[in-house]
Formats: sequence, structure tokens, C-alpha cells
Amino acid sequence: MRTYRLALIGFGNVAQGFVQILQQRAQQLRTQHQADIQIVAVTSPSKGSLYHPQGIDPAVLLNAIEITGNFSAITADYTDWDTQRIIRESNANVILELSPTNLKTAQPALSYIETALQTGKHVITANKGPTALYYPQLKQLAQDNQVTLGIEGTVMSGTPSLMLAQTLRSAGITRIQGILNGTTNYMLTRMEAGLSYNEALTEAQERGYAETDPTGDVEGHDAVAKVVILANLLMDASINPNDVQREGITQITTHDIQTAQQAGKRYKLIGTLERQAKGRIRASVQPEQMDITHPLASVSDATNAITYSTQLMGDITLVGSGAGRIETGYALLTDLLKMPDYSKSDI
Ligand code: HSE
Repeated sequence: MRTYRLALIGFGNVAQGFVQILQQRAQQLRTQHQADIQIVAVTSPSKGSLYHPQGIDPAVLLNAIEITGNFSAITADYTDWDTQRIIRESNANVILELSPTNLKTAQPALSYIETALQTGKHVITANKGPTALYYPQLKQLAQDNQVTLGIEGTVMSGTPSLMLAQTLRSAGITRIQGILNGTTNYMLTRMEAGLSYNEALTEAQERGYAETDPTGDVEGHDAVAKVVILANLLMDASINPNDVQREGITQITTHDIQTAQQAGKRYKLIGTLERQAKGRIRASVQPEQMDITHPLASVSDATNAITYSTQLMGDITLVGSGAGRIETGYALLTDLLKMPDYSKSDI
């Protein structure tokens, strides 16, 4: 049996989805995967800080959030440790970094991840800020400290887009194109059904698809971050968000969508990466009117899709959930279960 002692940094939608999975599947995880997963610490700026070296019951955490919205009613050995102290000094061996995405500076997540890796803790994150802006440096830091860095949840939530594509690298990936943001795809689908832009955004927020600040979704920054992650991880590129041509969906109205529909078209926010001459990569995120018969046009709601075009295998398309608390929580679980044993070896 492997014992994973987790510290959760942040307790928003994704963290709660992950804890819900643990609550429901603890027994299955023990018998099928020989995984004893304990939550020893949780910290959130708005909900409080808990460190209990023997482990905190997932049901107690979820119950407290449902009833009071914070951790004040939970008994733990330590309730005043700050995040950096929890990362450095707790008995956690894996840090789940789940604080809100900041695509400008990547902070505070970046400093949390750096501290964790430097102090020999494995890190799993669904945070696109540090991953889009600093992945090569963080990966190196993880290697230097003989620990692992899991990022599966940053693109297509728990749909294994990165895991699959890692195996396609040797087929020569020449182009990547897809629907990479669940919030905007959900909104475009609902606007086609007649909802206004604001009504559709409110629904997407209620369903837990949108970022803490949904501007990142609707203006295309979230999809840009994913394009950058894909380029740097899978196409040996070294690009940053400023290298991606970007246009969001804020200018698209319900009327535009319905007019396109009458012409047999459907608006989709499409991210594209294309290998060009001399190793250059063209990268963009923009709304496109796709013909209704195009495979990406039929991808609706918060579903995402990526087509990997390769030299040896032609096109391979992956369609699946792109956002959501359980879906992204599941991504964290897949990263956790694929970590090597605690011999501190590389992934
Ligand atoms: N806000 C993101 C989306 C979450 O809507 O796709 C998943 O990365």
C-alpha cells in the first residue's frame, strides 16, 4: 500500500471535486490501486488553514464548506499555519496546488510550487498560470530535486489530452487544433439556444466551469494558456502567451450566433498551433464560424476537443470534458496514481 499524504493549497471548485472523489472512492482506491490517500492539510485565504498530521476526513471538510463556507468548525492540531509553512514543514509528501489562476505573474501559485519542489515534495497542479509561463523551469526544478510535477488537469481537465499526446510526439506532431475552453463553448452552445451572453456566462459560472475571474475565459486568455502549454510540451516550442494571436468571444451576440446558424455555420473558439518553415510555430485563439458538418462544430456544452495532426498517424481527435469540478478533480487523481513510488525518481 502506498500512502499519499496530501496538502491542498486552495479549496475552490477543483479541490472540492477532488475531495468528493476521495470520499466516494476511498475503498476502491485502496483495493484497485493500493493507494491510501490522506489529506493532512488544507489552506485557503477565505476558508482558513488546517494541518492535522493524522489526516482529515474528506466528509468533514465537505460538510463544513456546505454548512459554514469555511473551516472554522473543524478541529485540527494546527489551525494557524500559513501556506508556505504548510508546504515546508508539514508531513505532506504531495502538494496539490489549486489556487486561482493568474496568467500575468503566475503568483502566488508559482512561489508555492517552487517551495514545494525545492523541499522535495511532489507537486500536482491544475493551475495554468505557472504551467503556461514557467513549465520548463519548474520541470527542471522538479528533476533537480528528484520529485515529479503533474499538470494533466491544465488542458481538457481529466480527459487525458497530455498523457495521450506524449505518446504521439514520436509520430511527429505538425498541427494541433481544438476547442480548449469549456466556459466559452458552453456559452456559445447556450446562446445558440437563445440565452443572452450574460445569462449564458452566469450558467457557466454556476456549473463551476469558469475561472474565479471569468474574464480569462471569455477574452480567450485561458485558451491561450492551454495553447502555450501544448506548444511547449508537445511541439518543442518555447513560446509565451504574448506569442499567441488572441481574440475572445466578448463581441459575439446571440443575434450573430443565430445568423450564423441560419447560414449552416456555428461559432467556436478555436485554438490552433501550426508548425511552419524553419521550426517556427504559428499560434492563435479566435472565434471561427465552422461549417456545421465540421467535426469540431458538433462539440457542444463544456466538452472540449483536440485534433492532433501527425506525420505517421494522420489526424487523431480526442473529445471529452474540458472543465468541471469532478472532471478536473479526476485529473489530479490520474496524476497522483501515475507517480512513481516515493523513491524520488523522475516521472
Ligand atoms: N475555465 C476553464 C474552462 C476551466 O472553462 O475551460 C478548465 O481549464
